[in-house]
Amino acid sequence: MTWRTTLPLLAVSALASLPVACSSFDFLTEVGTTQPSAADCGGCHVEIFEEFQSSAHAAAWTRAGFVAATAEHEITDCLGCHAPASIYVDGPPTLREARREEGVTCLSCHFDAGAMVGPIDSSALVDPHPVLVGRALYRTSELCGKCHEGTYREWRAAPAAGRMTCQDCHMGRVVRTATQGTSAVSDVLVSFEEPFEGRRHTFHVPIDGTIEHVLTADICSVEHGEEALRCNVILTNGLPHLIPTGDFGFRWVKVAMHALSPSDVPLATAETSLFKELGDALVPGVPRSFPVEFPPATASVRVRVTTGSRSGARTTIFEQVVPIQ
Ligand code: HEC
Ligand code: HEC
Ligand code: HEC
Ligand code: HEC
Ligand code: HEC
Repeated sequence: MTWRTTLPLLAVSALASLPVACSSFDFLTEVGTTQPSAADCGGCHVEIFEEFQSSAHAAAWTRAGFVAATAEHEITDCLGCHAPASIYVDGPPTLREARREEGVTCLSCHFDAGAMVGPIDSSALVDPHPVLVGRALYRTSELCGKCHEGTYREWRAAPAAGRMTCQDCHMGRVVRTATQGTSAVSDVLVSFEEPFEGRRHTFHVPIDGTIEHVLTADICSVEHGEEALRCNVILTNGLPHLIPTGDFGFRWVKVAMHALSPSDVPLATAETSLFKELGDALVPGVPRSFPVEFPPATASVRVRVTTGSRSGARTTIFEQVVPIQ
């Protein structure tokens, strides 16, 4: 016997000693007036569950700003995308019956026709639930566009050459198995899964340097006066969507420009804010000019761009020192 045939036997005999039989996993696909929780999925998909818990998707129903904006979940038109039954519908998702507090949960994105749909070929010894391979949808921006309607429209309008998918930036790559062992028995089961390149479920805003050219900054048309130095700071959005993007939640961008002396001492600051609601957002690939007047001794400008929203989150998405020629 090769190890490939020995180990399954070992695993199956290990399974037989489990207090629960395999059929006790049937509840994983019982979806309607009740449904399994994300934590149930997390019993095997340990890492994905932990990542999901930290994501904005897990907070989509309970977030204070959303509760207030919908008069405590009374405005029914608003609810479908925030506690969706399924993405497998024409048009935007509809509100589900069970476990709304989990927001955009595992089953919202992965359940169709009685099975868990995902992008990978199964390599596991035992699938406790049926698996359907639907690679195309999971690797495209279209999936995200089911709910991120405005951002998806912006993405489609952005220059197509080299355009990355939403997943490329908001779900970091990771090589691992789909499940992780949590006991001697599940360790054996997981040992049959082949690690593959999947993606993190943090749905985070990528500011960790993994994405290049979020923005580029340049300085042009410098005028050296006696009283002041006039120049234009040019910012170009390298993303395939607006900065800021998002249809809800009142988002802004703050552009701060600090004049620095030859020895990097701050001499003066100019600041300006852009509001998406005012049609002010930075458009992909289109340079935007910010004219500033600084002291004549200015040798370089530090440009810092921060995004924020009403919910209070602030993120510095760009910082660079640009020398004045
Ligand atoms: C008892 C363990 C277990 C539980 C609980 C579990 N899964 Fe799985 N799941 C697996 C295994 C094993 C695979 C297959 C991995 C492989 O074939 O490489 C898998 C595969 C998947 C896939 C990948 C399908 C593909 O083709 O890409 C998805 C999606 C998935 N599960 C979602 C879920 C969801 C959602 C839940 C909760 C409702 C859940 N799973 C609960 C063990 C589990
Ligand atoms: C079923 C609807 C739905 C789908 C599909 C969906 N999202 Fe979301 N997404 C939401 C909702 C609702 C929120 C708002 C949650 C909140 O912040 O309260 C959100 C928030 C986010 C955020 C955080 C925005 C912020 O304000 O910080 C990111 C990033 C994100 N989604 C990326 C993605 C990506 C990438 C995909 C595709 C892989 C995707 N989403 C698919 C509904 C969805
Ligand atoms: C090249 C990388 C990249 C791609 C591709 C990308 N994004 Fe983003 N996304 C970012 C960065 C960086 C930010 C932070 C800057 C901003 O707010 O615009 C961001 C911000 C967001 C936000 C707002 C988060 C917040 O807290 O303000 C949402 C929602 C979002 N992206 C959704 C999407 C969706 C949906 C797609 C696909 C249609 C997508 N993104 C494609 C990099 C990317
Ligand atoms: C907003 C939609 C969304 C939600 C919510 C979501 N997933 Fe996924 N999931 C995806 C996408 C997109 C991929 C494809 C990633 C790729 O290309 O590998 C994926 C991939 C997977 C895979 C295959 C492994 C991989 O990395 O490709 C498994 C297993 C899985 N998800 C399980 C879960 C579980 C369990 C939860 C809840 C804890 C969950 N997902 C929540 C969108 C989602
Ligand atoms: C088509 C799907 C969809 C519908 C319908 C929808 N939302 Fe959202 N909502 C989203 C997505 C996606 C996000 C996250 C990114 C963004 O702002 O576009 C979000 C984010 C939010 C946020 C911001 C959460 C934060 O980050 O602070 C609030 C508030 C909100 N929605 C309220 C509403 C209200 C009020 C309605 C009804 C008028 C509504 N939503 C209807 C998809 C939807």
